[in-house]
Amino acid sequence: MQHTWIQDLPRHIGAEVTVAGWIHHRRAKGKLQFLVVRDGSGFLQAVLFAPDIAPAVFEAAEKLAQETSVLVHGTVRADERAPGGVELAVSDLNVISPSENFPISPKEHGDAFLLDHRHLWLRSRRQHAIQRVRNEFLKGCRDFFYDRDFVCVDAPIFTPAACEGTTTLFETDYFDQKAYLSQSGQLYMEAAALALGRVYCLGPTFRAEKSKTRRHLMEFWMLEPEIAFAGIDEVMHLAEEMIANLVARCLDRCAEELKVLERDTKPLQSVTAPFPRVSYEDAIGMINAAKAPGEPHFEWGSDFGAPDESAISARFDRPVFVHRFPAVFKAFYMKRDPDDDRLTLSADLIAPEGYGEIIGGGQREDDYDALLHRLHEHKLPQEAYEWYLDLRRYGSVPHAGYGMGIERTVSWICGIDHLREAIAFPRMLYRLAP
Ligand code: 4AD
Ligand code: MG
Repeated sequence: MQHTWIQDLPRHIGAEVTVAGWIHHRRAKGKLQFLVVRDGSGFLQAVLFAPDIAPAVFEAAEKLAQETSVLVHGTVRADERAPGGVELAVSDLNVISPSENFPISPKEHGDAFLLDHRHLWLRSRRQHAIQRVRNEFLKGCRDFFYDRDFVCVDAPIFTPAACEGTTTLFETDYFDQKAYLSQSGQLYMEAAALALGRVYCLGPTFRAEKSKTRRHLMEFWMLEPEIAFAGIDEVMHLAEEMIANLVARCLDRCAEELKVLERDTKPLQSVTAPFPRVSYEDAIGMINAAKAPGEPHFEWGSDFGAPDESAISARFDRPVFVHRFPAVFKAFYMKRDPDDDRLTLSADLIAPEGYGEIIGGGQREDDYDALLHRLHEHKLPQEAYEWYLDLRRYGSVPHAGYGMGIERTVSWICGIDHLREAIAFPRMLYRLAP
């Protein structure tokens, strides 16, 4: 179909073009009709002026329902007030396919209704903006690592063993054995880092968490770099550089989208490296200082909840690292702190504005005996991890990495309050469709 994408129209001022799209909105005023047409690349105001077009076309336009697909012909006019700086003076219009009773009208709908109609909800201006920020963000991730000589190695999704504890595994039949949907590509990235030096994977990961919070999805995307000959300090440094780079890129290239989302961009502008680093010990002090009198104190050895993370992040104007968490609630692969065996060389990055943990990572146990001991402590089946132990048998080296949750980070950048909008088709506790 020959047509011009709406986003390209500013290069065609004065020209006659055909726009292919859908009717987003229509209003009339005497001899004028204003159609807002969207084609995925943008939104365009198309103006029909009765004296300039055939009466049959003008009348047909009056019956156009929301989401009717159309071809609109006309002349591109500069208009400073219009989004994109142009509008279309329509000369002719053809319907491609009708749309009767589109379920999502401009009025307010409940969350459940919108999620049931997610396949159609994606057509809204807001969802359009979020998907475009996510797209820019993901391209930014790939560019960031490519530019720094990392090799992208894709991790498998069917896995024979757990990475992040056995309680959140999705189990599935794999012919005559059990397979689990990957919780993280990390173990595979460790093998890849020992082969290729600096690597990352970017793909879907799965957690069977009976969690209904706005920060949890059953299926989410994760970016996971892993570096050989590196420790906790190198990965914190890489993570802050990456986050500052991605935020700056989205601010620069998604200004329109962030405006549609009514995102106050001021808090994002202070997101420059270095980020503050707070030890778990010191973080406890911050959490307890924020408690109301009489509220139970945060005990050493517990993991943070959302309010605890907020108490920490409230003190800073940019993301903050909390490092050296106790081993008691961390995964088996974490290397212990040589200065305090109760602690791990781990680091989480907590986003500002109450968005919580967006990155988790640290240094990996590279000693064979220590790792074997940990596997047994965590009651993990050694046979399933023999290949992983091999990495410590044949030229083990210090190595470290992290995982960034894509939906959590995109939600923060977009300023949206539930992860379900940061992915096209969210998988949540009681929602598998559409
Ligand atoms: O902290 P997590 O569990 O760390 C790992 O999986 C490591 N193996 C990563 C690594 O070192 N390569 O998860 C990493 C990040 C979290 O910080 C969070 O942003 C996101 O993944 N995440 C989730 N996002 C949405 N829904 C969930 N249920 C999530 N669980 C973790
Ligand atoms: Mg974590």
